[in-house]
Amino acid sequence: VEHWLSVDLKENSFLILRYDLDQIKDTLQSLITNKRYQHSLRVGDVCKSLADHYNYDIDKAYLAGLIHDAAKDLDPFTSDISLTDFQKSLYENFTPVAHAFALSSVVDRCFFNIPEDIIQSAQWHTTGKENMTLLEKIVFVADFIEPERFYFERNVVENLAYQSLDKAVGYIAWFKLNYLVTAREPIYLKLLDCYNFYNKNSE
Ligand SMILES: [Fe+2]
Ligand SMILES: [Fe+2]
Repeated sequence: VEHWLSVDLKENSFLILRYDLDQIKDTLQSLITNKRYQHSLRVGDVCKSLADHYNYDIDKAYLAGLIHDAAKDLDPFTSDISLTDFQKSLYENFTPVAHAFALSSVVDRCFFNIPEDIIQSAQWHTTGKENMTLLEKIVFVADFIEPERFYFERNVVENLAYQSLDKAVGYIAWFKLNYLVTAREPIYLKLLDCYNFYNKNSE
């Protein structure tokens, strides 16, 4: 099934990109475990729903949600996909966030025609950052509230997400930071940037 996506190039100029959703799903299935693939489908659906709520492009949001974990089952040491030194250093020092930043390499190698801004947005799904775009916030929040997350905070954030995405992002950053500190795990600084930015005026 072919789909079309409009990509803004500059003011008054855009490109219509044709992509095959079935092919993207097939490729994704070959890259990740079935469990993770099912998670990706659910995140895509939540992205759609949030995009609908916030008047964002539904197809773009779905695609970003779908591919966000495409690098999660990649073995950075044996894979044919070459990684930059920066990406490798993340696998060594911040393992849980590394797959998000390896996404661009996997997508470049395994998918065609996925617009750069979608890849860029999806790569912030784990840590978040300061001043995120609407698409970045949608993916970040959707990954946390997809229906088969079973922690208590999921419901809190889901309710928040449809009132204020910024508040939902702030809550998630707080939750993740809290979790990491409690488990005495390293904190990737972008998560802290995200936490500070979205909890500036939290009551
Ligand atoms: Fe992830
Ligand atoms: Fe995920």
